[in-house]
Amino acid sequence: MTDHIRIVEVGPRDGLQNEKLQVPTDLKIRFIEALAAAGLREIEATSFVSPKRVPQLADAEALWPMLSHGPAFSALTPNLKGLERAISLDVDRIAVFTAASETFTQKNINMSIDQSIETFAEMISIFRASRPTGFVRGYVSTAFECPYEGRIDPGQTVRVIEKLLNLGVDEVSIGDTIGVAAPPEVKSLTRLVLNVMSRGKITYHFHDTNGTAIANVAEAMEMGIESFDSSAGGLGGCPFAPGAGGNLATEDLVYFLERCGIPTHVDLYRLATSSLEILKVLGRSPCAKGQLARLSLSGTSPT
Ligand code: HMG
Ligand code: MG
Repeated sequence: MTDHIRIVEVGPRDGLQNEKLQVPTDLKIRFIEALAAAGLREIEATSFVSPKRVPQLADAEALWPMLSHGPAFSALTPNLKGLERAISLDVDRIAVFTAASETFTQKNINMSIDQSIETFAEMISIFRASRPTGFVRGYVSTAFECPYEGRIDPGQTVRVIEKLLNLGVDEVSIGDTIGVAAPPEVKSLTRLVLNVMSRGKITYHFHDTNGTAIANVAEAMEMGIESFDSSAGGLGGCPFAPGAGGNLATEDLVYFLERCGIPTHVDLYRLATSSLEILKVLGRSPCAKGQLARLSLSGTSPT
């Protein structure tokens, strides 16, 4: 097994986008700074999406210039307008996002899958011209199951991945958006995906609705995958995917990797405390196991 796993922290974006209560921008910045201080090197900070559809991230313009140097920050860009907003702030890591399910794509970004691919083609060409060294992630949501269409044929997921690869994305993040997959499904999808792309370009994005996320990571690692998305405190969900639970908690991922003998260079205690202030503002108690265990071991009150 590998001795290096890449962690992409998506808490400030995926973790917060579904929260109805507005989190103040300076608190988001404190959260991001705490994540960076804990050792996370790649952080998805926000989205340049419609503020009417995702009010929580309407402060992207205010937030971006406040980000400190250090980690590589990225942001979601759904369309040309989102890209323009990102380019005007010198964002050099963007993520475009589509899905394996037509219905989810329509509900999420108001486009068909093919329309999304056409839109991304134009966006990526503009982005590459303006940021030649920039990085483009392509998300494929509902890779296993859609909250509207049910189980997704893995062949369909692979077809959408191929469309993104044809656009020249630097990596593909494969999303179990509603957190339902189990390891055998991860194994069979990964086998198919590896027929069309190198493992170095694959990231898995597991939500943990049913507690299977860490088992899915273990399975993907067995198959050589070395990159995973996760969210501090297990925050997360998608406003357009009913039933989506939180993301795989970064604390659970870091604990698991360290216990497997894979160094993460992440300070688990600092990580476990990073989301406490936000959770308090949201009126929630921490519930990620890795977070609770670390807080308890260090005698820190979780509330
Ligand atoms: P639309 O609803 O089709 O609207 O937007 P439109 O393009 O006709 O525009 C309507 C209004 O929105 C106009 O303003 C536009 O200017 C404005 P008005 O004239 O009414 O004042 N507008 C924008 N404003 C700011 N930024 C923009 C923008 N675009 C249009 N970029 C759109 C299409 C895609 C923008 C919209 O549907 C949207 O923002 N969707 C949000 C989707 C989203 O953020 N979903 C969650 C992230 S995906 C996810 O969570 C899954 C993931 O985690 C992986 C996994 O778990 O599987 C990534
Ligand atoms: Mg997600």
